[in-house]
Amino acid sequence: MTREILAFDHDLIHAGNKGLGIDHDNVTEQVDALLEQMTLAQQLNEVRGLQAHAIDGLYFAGGDADLAIPPFKMVDGPRGARTGHATAFPVAMARGASFDVYLERRVGLAIGLEVAARGGNVLLAPTINLLRHPGWGRAQETYSEDSFHIGAMGSAFISGAQNHVLASPKHFAVNNVENTRFEMTSDVSPRVLHEVYLPHFKRCVVEAGAASIMSAYNKLNGTYCGEHTELLTAILRDDWGFKGFVESDWFLGTRSTSDALNAGLDIEMPVGFRFSDENIYAAIEAGSLNEATIRQAAGRCLYAKVAWDLLHQVTPDPSVVESAEHLSLAREVAEKSIVLLKNQQQILPLSDVAGKRYAVVGDMADIANLGDRGSSFVTPTHGVSPLEGIRHLVQTAEVTYLNSAADLASLTDSLADFDAVIVVAGLNFVDEGEFIPTEQQEAGGVDLARGGDRELLTLPAIQQALIERVSALSKQTIVILQGGSAIEMRAWVDQVQGLLMAWYPGCEGGHGIAGVLFGTVNPSGRLPVSIPREIDQHVPWDITSLQVPHGYLQGYAYMQANQSEPEYPFGFGLSYTAFALEGLIVQTTDTGLRVSVDVTNTGAMAGATVVQLYVSCRGSKVLRAPRALKGFGRVELAASEQATLVLLVDDESLAFYHEQIADWQLEACQYDLLVGFSSVDLPLCSSWLFDGQDWQPM
Ligand code: BGC
Repeated sequence: MTREILAFDHDLIHAGNKGLGIDHDNVTEQVDALLEQMTLAQQLNEVRGLQAHAIDGLYFAGGDADLAIPPFKMVDGPRGARTGHATAFPVAMARGASFDVYLERRVGLAIGLEVAARGGNVLLAPTINLLRHPGWGRAQETYSEDSFHIGAMGSAFISGAQNHVLASPKHFAVNNVENTRFEMTSDVSPRVLHEVYLPHFKRCVVEAGAASIMSAYNKLNGTYCGEHTELLTAILRDDWGFKGFVESDWFLGTRSTSDALNAGLDIEMPVGFRFSDENIYAAIEAGSLNEATIRQAAGRCLYAKVAWDLLHQVTPDPSVVESAEHLSLAREVAEKSIVLLKNQQQILPLSDVAGKRYAVVGDMADIANLGDRGSSFVTPTHGVSPLEGIRHLVQTAEVTYLNSAADLASLTDSLADFDAVIVVAGLNFVDEGEFIPTEQQEAGGVDLARGGDRELLTLPAIQQALIERVSALSKQTIVILQGGSAIEMRAWVDQVQGLLMAWYPGCEGGHGIAGVLFGTVNPSGRLPVSIPREIDQHVPWDITSLQVPHGYLQGYAYMQANQSEPEYPFGFGLSYTAFALEGLIVQTTDTGLRVSVDVTNTGAMAGATVVQLYVSCRGSKVLRAPRALKGFGRVELAASEQATLVLLVDDESLAFYHEQIADWQLEACQYDLLVGFSSVDLPLCSSWLFDGQDWQPM
C-alpha cells in the first residue's frame, strides 16, 4: 500500500485552536455577571478603540482596570506582526501559490506567536477577500481568485494563529477595489454573494472559529458594510452562529452611530468618533438606539475576553520574534511559493556552475522587495535580496551585478557572453498596495507609500524595457518577476527563456529565489491567479468606478466560460521533475464524496506537485462555473515515489444558493469530478449522478 495523504486533515489543521470548543453557556454566564456590574458608561468603553495611531504597533480597544477587564490589543497583519522588527513572511498571495494548508497553518502559528510576544492579543488577519480582479491594489494580501482555495488557506492560517491570539479575518465583505474603497458599492445578487464572496468567510467562522471579524470600508448593495444588518447580523450571527465581535475597519469604517450598532458592529476602530459618548447618548435620547444594544455589543467583546481568558494571557518570550525557526519557515514558504512559469530547453536549474559567469540585472535585484507599505507592511531586521541570495549560494561562479542603465550600456555587447542573464523585475509598493492618504502617511510616518489599484496589468515601462533589452542581447535570459498578483507579459514572454514568479517573497526571499534558480530547491508553486494575455480576459475593471457590479464568474471561471485562453492558467506551475496521476477512485461518504488518486514522481529528482480537483455540474438549471475548484493537495515525493492523495468533498460545497427559497440546494444533475495539475490540465474524470437523494456512479 502506498502512503496516504489527507489533503486537509481537520484534526491536524485545527489542533490547538482556542477559538474552537468554547464552553458557550459557561462563558455567557460569566459575561452576564460582568455586565450586571457595569454601568452604561463602562459598557460603552468596551465598544471603541482608544487612540488613533498604534503604540508600538498595538491598537488598544476597551478594557477597564477597575473591573479587571483587559483591553484588546490589535496588531496587523497578513504577512507578519506589524510591530517593530518582525519576521516578514511572503505575502498571502505567495503563500496561496504554495497550495499548502499545513504550511499556512505554521505561518499562522508563527505570526500569532510573534504578535503575542509583542503584547498583542488580536491579529488583524488574514485578509480573505476574493480577488475579483488582479489589479486590486491589495491583491497581495489575500490568497487567490478562488473561494474554495481562500477558505482552505484562511482557515488553516486562523487555526494556527488562534493557538496564540484571536484572529480577525477581514474585510467583511466583498472588498476588492482599493482607490474608491471608502465610497464604492459592490453590487451582488444574493446568489453571487453567498456562493462566490462569502463561503470562505463562512468557513473561517464556522470551521476555524474565528474570534473576530473586521468589517469592510466599502458598501455592499448600497449600504456601508459597517452598518449592514444582513451581513453583520442575519448572515454572520443568525445563519453562521458567529459568537465573536465585529470591529470596524479603521478611519471611515464606521459611518454612523445607531445604524452601525443596530446592524451589529461592536467596536469602532481606531477611536470612538461615531461611538463617542456624545453621539451615543444623543442617539439613546433620540430613541434610535437602545441601551440594550450597547450592552449586547459590549457583551460580545467581553465574550471573547472571557472565553480566551485574556486577563491571564501569558506573553511569550520576545526571543520568538525573528527566531531562527521563524526565519527558516519564511524561507521554506518562499521556496514553496515560487512558481516556475517557463523553462525553455530546460535552461533551469542552472547547473555545473563552477567557473561559469552569470549576470544579475536590474535595480530590484539588490532589494528585498517585501511588498506594499500599507497596514500589512512588516519590517524585518534584514531582508535577503535576490542578489544576496544568489551570491550566498553560488560561490564557485562569477556573479556580475549590473544595476544601472549605464552599467548595462557598457556591457551591451558582452551580455551574450554570460552563461545566463538573470533579470529581476516587477512591481513594488509604489505600483500597488493599500492606498494610504497623504495625511495618514505623514501622521504615521510612512514614507512614499502610494500603492493603490493597478489600472493596467503590464509592467512599468522601465521594467518592461529592461527585460526587452536584455532578452534581445542574450538568449539565456531568465526573468524573476515580483509582484502581488497577475502581471501581463505578452509583449516579452516569448523572448525570454526562463521565468519565475516570485511574488513578494518575504525577508528570506532571496535565498528562495537562488535555490530555485540553481536547483537546490525544486519549484512547486502553482498560480493562485490567472495570468491573462491581456487585461480584458478578466472581468471589466475600472478603478474609478463607485458602483461595481459583481457577476457570478471571475478569474479562471470567467475565462473558461468565455473560452478565452490565459497566458498561464490558474493552478499552473512547472517542476524540475515530472508527475503522473492514475487510479482515480470516488466513493460516497455520509457527507459527500471521497476522492483518492495515486500520484507518482516519474522523474529523477525529489519534488512536489499540487493535485487539483475541479467539479463541473452538467445540465444545471443555473449558471455554473465550467469548472470549480473543490479540493487540492500538495504532495511531496522522492524520485519514483508514489503516494495516494485523499480529498473529501462535502455535499454542501457542491450545492448552489437557491434565491427563491433563500437556501442551499444540491441540485439533481451530473457532476464530473476532474483531477489534474491545473485548471486546464485535468486528465482524470469520474462522473457521478445525484438524483436528489443519492449519489450514483455513471
Ligand atoms: C486596513 C485594515 C487594517 C487597518 C489597521 C485599515 O486601513 O484596511 O486592513 O487592519 O487599517 O491598520
